[in-house]
Amino acid sequence: MIKKQSAHKQPFLLRPLGKADVPEYSEMLYASFNAWYWRHGWGKDYFGCKPRETSIFYNIYNDLTPGRNVAAFDKVTGRLIGACFYHPREYHVSLGIMSVHTDYCGRGVGRALVDYILRFTLENNYKACRLVGSAMNMNSFSLYNRSGFVPRVTYHDMVINVSDHHLKTHVQGEDHVRDAAITDVAGMGDLEMEVSGIKREIDYRYAIVRPGESANERKYPRNVLHASVYENDQRGIDGFMISVRHPALNMLGPCVARSEETAIALIRKELERFKGTWVLLVAPMEKRIMVEQLYKWEAVNVETHLKQVWGEFQCFKGVNMPSFLPETG
Ligand SMILES: CC(C)(COP(=O)(O)OP(=O)(O)OC[C@H]1O[C@@H](n2cnc3c(N)ncnc32)[C@H](O)[C@@H]1OP(=O)(O)O)[C@@H](O)C(=O)NCCC(=O)NCCS
Repeated sequence: MIKKQSAHKQPFLLRPLGKADVPEYSEMLYASFNAWYWRHGWGKDYFGCKPRETSIFYNIYNDLTPGRNVAAFDKVTGRLIGACFYHPREYHVSLGIMSVHTDYCGRGVGRALVDYILRFTLENNYKACRLVGSAMNMNSFSLYNRSGFVPRVTYHDMVINVSDHHLKTHVQGEDHVRDAAITDVAGMGDLEMEVSGIKREIDYRYAIVRPGESANERKYPRNVLHASVYENDQRGIDGFMISVRHPALNMLGPCVARSEETAIALIRKELERFKGTWVLLVAPMEKRIMVEQLYKWEAVNVETHLKQVWGEFQCFKGVNMPSFLPETG
């Protein structure tokens, strides 16, 4: 249920972040996550980058759908005290990344941001809002759950430290994996529609390197994303993988695939981008063939996450691995 709270009763103002807010936003995002994870036994910074480098979230989300975020500002001091992005796509809206300033937690800021996004979802006739939230974070779990989100899928958050040894071993189907091309966008959308009941062509398009662009020189998509597809013998697409490599986040996903074997081939191929460093991936717990393979690759569990959905949801008919950037459920 969306809370009815009149704007004048809130001690904060809601408005979208603009470019001028980005330095303050990235400091807040960095501090909010790092403080929460330190307080709850993580034992190190969640964001191991420089504070300003977390602006990559604003930059990519603002490239994709400008202005689709909501932020809260203290009415007296003007200080930024919370912000969240939302991602309207063909059939759904997704929510994330959410953060509230550590000095302002527990005062209804997070709830006001969620309510704003659910109101947008309703007013624009979307049937669902989706997010992927930590299962060990009782603050965010409770915030979303009390707002009407229902947990639907459970995920392992696993980290692989990618070494030569990983790249020397191969899996079946790897030779079907190639870089995605702009001409794959419609096929990627059809596949995701079939497997997950949603589409997000804008995201695939953004992650694909344009013809003539070299991976090192490209400015767009900000030199951090990469997309690949698994092409079957009939030249159709059985899976795709997007990954992000940036000081704020090394992550595989989103990945959508008809089978676990296809997802494993996509993961193995994409690991090459992360040679000599670590990469996070979020794997569905029920996909045991994948999970066993990830353990063989010495993946370490670091957290668990839940796909939470407000509104309609169909069970996945294949593999769906979410990401935190771009995060669109
Ligand atoms: C998670 C976070 C955004 C919550 O924001 P917040 O402003 O403190 O949340 P709010 O005060 O608006 O609301 C929390 C709601 O959860 C409820 N709640 C909190 N802990 C609860 C618990 N253990 N059991 C039941 N309800 C609980 C509160 O009562 C409130 O419910 P209400 O709106 O129905 O009154 C904030 O803690 C944060 O930024 N954490 C660090 C970053 C982060 O975790 N981001 C999300 C990653 S998935």
